[in-house]
Amino acid sequence: MHFSLLLFACALCGSTLALNNGLMRTPPMGWLAWERFRCDIDCQNDPKNCISENLFMDMADRLSEDGWRELGYVYVNIDDCWSSMERDENGRLQPDPKRFPGGIRKLARYMHDRGLKLGIYGDMGTHTCGGYPGTTLDKIEIDAQTIADWEVDMFKFDGCYSNATEQEQGYPLMSKALNATGRPIGYSCSWPAYRGGLPPKVNYTQLGEICNLWRNYDDIQDSWDSVLNIIDWFFDNQDALQPAAGPGRWNDPDMLIIGDFGLSLDQSRSQMALWSIMAAPLFMSNDLRTISSGARSILQNKIAIGINQDAMGMPGRRILKEKSGIEVFWRPLSNNASALVFFSRRTDMPYRYTSSLRQLNFTTGSYKIIDVFTGKMASLKDSTDFVVSVNPTGVVMWYVSAPARTNLNHLRRGQEAHRVAEENFIPYVFL
Ligand code: GLA
Repeated sequence: MHFSLLLFACALCGSTLALNNGLMRTPPMGWLAWERFRCDIDCQNDPKNCISENLFMDMADRLSEDGWRELGYVYVNIDDCWSSMERDENGRLQPDPKRFPGGIRKLARYMHDRGLKLGIYGDMGTHTCGGYPGTTLDKIEIDAQTIADWEVDMFKFDGCYSNATEQEQGYPLMSKALNATGRPIGYSCSWPAYRGGLPPKVNYTQLGEICNLWRNYDDIQDSWDSVLNIIDWFFDNQDALQPAAGPGRWNDPDMLIIGDFGLSLDQSRSQMALWSIMAAPLFMSNDLRTISSGARSILQNKIAIGINQDAMGMPGRRILKEKSGIEVFWRPLSNNASALVFFSRRTDMPYRYTSSLRQLNFTTGSYKIIDVFTGKMASLKDSTDFVVSVNPTGVVMWYVSAPARTNLNHLRRGQEAHRVAEENFIPYVFL
């Protein structure tokens, strides 16, 4: 008894308590209100789009009825502007009574009844970025408990209106407070985004111990410029960022804006492909009630999702930047497979890019290729030249299975991995 008490006490006493909540072993997937619906609180004039329980119930209905949930899109996340301007008489956060008349717990139950999860938003600071009540250091425990009492499953902790010292205390404290509630709550930290996103100001080892995911960089907007800017920042800084992520701890380049107004279908495929290479959380911020079939089929692409959700959880990297404006990205996957993305920064016409797997550092052997967005399959030897035609601002994305024939000692292992890849991955793809 004493011994176990001691163990328990010591589990809590470390200064960097590991976030041992067992959650998000693969990047979380779902829907998040912010980019598409912002702080629209005008339910009088815009009842369908305002931040209210109806919006989240509508999205939950779509997720559970239109095939999203089965693909892994299970989180329905509230962002800013949900709360009342005042805390209640016990000092607890409370939702705006007009827009969330049923309360947050009822909304959480609505999600759980449909096999979904509810996320909510708070801010380490005096106010949220939208000016609603924030969580100062003295409010961390009560807010964590309130969220747990409501049966919420994920918490995004923004960082407006606090300084570096407060953040350094507040983000780890919130992690402890959430853990102490005993409810598994996925923890999304905006901390690094407020500190420039890079070492030495940001300590990614510590973040991996206290948060499940973290925003590293600027907010996404509904434009290709914004997506490209995010892609460039993450891959220009891949040496610092790529090793930070893994099962239970993810870099978050922000929401998917596929299905909104700013991206062409090619650009939408680029976002889906590169978010999958990065092992990024896949939170759509769009209107699932009116989404086009083109956008839907990109977001519901099982091979891209399979790559994003790979069990090994190792993010990929940019491996080539060609003068032609073609860039090549590579992500290692379980079962000795990998993913390749050929991305074009060009703005003229489809570019015919020639390479070979050998040139891209693949070992000797014959590989099976699946084109992620066309579903076409082919066999390809490492030494054979291939040509991919990459549209302007678009991608060609490949799933590359383990080599059927590898060298010498690797022969056995290679074949086994290939068999596993064929048995496990490919049937999933063509379900
Ligand atoms: C910040 C965050 C966004 C969003 C808004 C809400 O800008 O980075 O993701 O949560 O605040 O006000």
